[in-house]
Amino acid sequence: MSIENIVNIREEFKKSEIDFKNLPDYPLELFHSWFDMALEVDKDNAIAFGLSTVSSEMVPSSRIVLLRGVTEEGFTFFTNYESRKAKDIEKNNIVSLNFYWEKLEKQVRITGKAVKISAADSDKYFGGRPRESQLGAWSSNQSKVIDLYYKLMNKVEKFEGLFEGKKVERPLHWGGYCVEVSTIEFWQGRPSRLHDRLLYTKDKNNWKKERLAP
Ligand SMILES: Cc1cc2nc3c(=O)[nH]c(=O)nc-3n(C[C@H](O)[C@H](O)[C@H](O)COP(=O)(O)O)c2cc1C
Repeated sequence: MSIENIVNIREEFKKSEIDFKNLPDYPLELFHSWFDMALEVDKDNAIAFGLSTVSSEMVPSSRIVLLRGVTEEGFTFFTNYESRKAKDIEKNNIVSLNFYWEKLEKQVRITGKAVKISAADSDKYFGGRPRESQLGAWSSNQSKVIDLYYKLMNKVEKFEGLFEGKKVERPLHWGGYCVEVSTIEFWQGRPSRLHDRLLYTKDKNNWKKERLAP
């Protein structure tokens, strides 16, 4: 297959459908049942999602991050608090999450507010990361321009030395965000592009359900 032929790539979606007659009132219930299936068929990709932010200059930006928790409060991921995404969130904390579970022909789109989680919760997660990743969090100024790569390696060595024989503490510039959900859309691929789409919108403590055209 070459680039000239990509117009001929066509996938027929046919694995499942949304049962609109039996929808849970609470979208997290549906998320959990889909997520369990995604973990079952492809656990590494199940937790990866596209996170989109918009800068103060209204420039959107997307990148993949990993889901590290889902609770009543929302969806949690971890990152560098001085990264580009964090700078965007500082100015505009409305973000969008996009999961695509290819093997299930399912997509989930979320919008919500990203809020920093507590230092104690970030410490807890950071404490469970591999030591190399912990040292990486100290060494990398995520999203900043690197002039000479050896300087990054030197920083890794420096922090290895500083923490030798000691527990690696969480740097304050690294931690989690929880995205408090405002809308969540469930998409199920269907034959002939007549896909099923179900949108939940939060209205105070209730969730409005709407079926959308594909
Ligand atoms: C599979 C995968 C998982 C990733 N997980 C994370 C993550 O959990 N947190 C993170 O900060 N970056 C993660 N990254 C890197 C981000 O995509 C991105 O390069 C980085 O966060 C810098 O983004 P920014 O400059 O827009 O802030 C991951 C990348 C991939 C491909």
